[in-house]
Amino acid sequence: MTTRAEPNLTYAGYLHLDAILNAQHPVAPENEGPSVRAAEHFFIVTHQAFELWFKQLLLDLADAAKLLPPPASDVEQALDHLQRARSILRLLVQQMVLFDHLSPRSFLAFRPYLGTASGSESAQFREVQKALGLRGRAVSPVFVAFRAAMQARALTLEQTYRDPSAAGALYRVAEALVDISEEFWQLNAVHVQIAERTIGQRPGTGGTTGVAYLAEGLESARAFPELWDVRTRL
Ligand code: HEM
Repeated sequence: MTTRAEPNLTYAGYLHLDAILNAQHPVAPENEGPSVRAAEHFFIVTHQAFELWFKQLLLDLADAAKLLPPPASDVEQALDHLQRARSILRLLVQQMVLFDHLSPRSFLAFRPYLGTASGSESAQFREVQKALGLRGRAVSPVFVAFRAAMQARALTLEQTYRDPSAAGALYRVAEALVDISEEFWQLNAVHVQIAERTIGQRPGTGGTTGVAYLAEGLESARAFPELWDVRTRL
């Protein structure tokens, strides 16, 4: 098969920069001043970047789930996806820390214009929670796939952890899932911190108690509990 590049393809066209770079529309009025406009622009860009990374994260987690189970299992390829997912989550932890540069003064200046819009409405974040088995009753698809791959090799979690060399790539998958679990928890923890740093104990725009509500959620933000439990049994 011959590959043919699109002859008129440009950098801007390929990346749809026109749409992306024109998608930042601060809602605070001009008379709030340029600093407030810049702070809101920063707030928008950061949230948009989160949503783009969530999209990639969901893709990688879904692909890993497809690649793990037999008969067409390709564990090394699944591992590539899981390791990328882990690195994206790590990046998002750092991205959350960017909000240290949103002062309470500038945030409070545009916050009233946000009305009831809240991060709690992020559909993709809910999808990420589902993919990690943290929302609803369904087990994480990627964990179900991992279990199927272990079953095909007649391995238990204990054996995998007691003899990593024998388990090979499946041991590395287990540890990649632990990394993902850890990074996701970190992301939630840093979210609580930045919320407190910017709004203190004010209620959230979504109508919750704010920081207290977010801190409570940390209890149930640990994905793949089996991989944490097995450590105690070794
Ligand atoms: C200055 C930055 C931020 C502040 C002050 C903040 C604050 C809050 C607060 C107070 C809540 C509780 C719900 C409410 O009543 O509104 C919340 C929920 C949430 N926020 Fe943020 N947030 C910030 C940045 C982000 C970012 C960058 C994201 C990423 C998309 C995000 C995603 C979420 C999600 C998914 C929830 C729902 C959590 C849950 O119900 O489990 N937030 N946020």
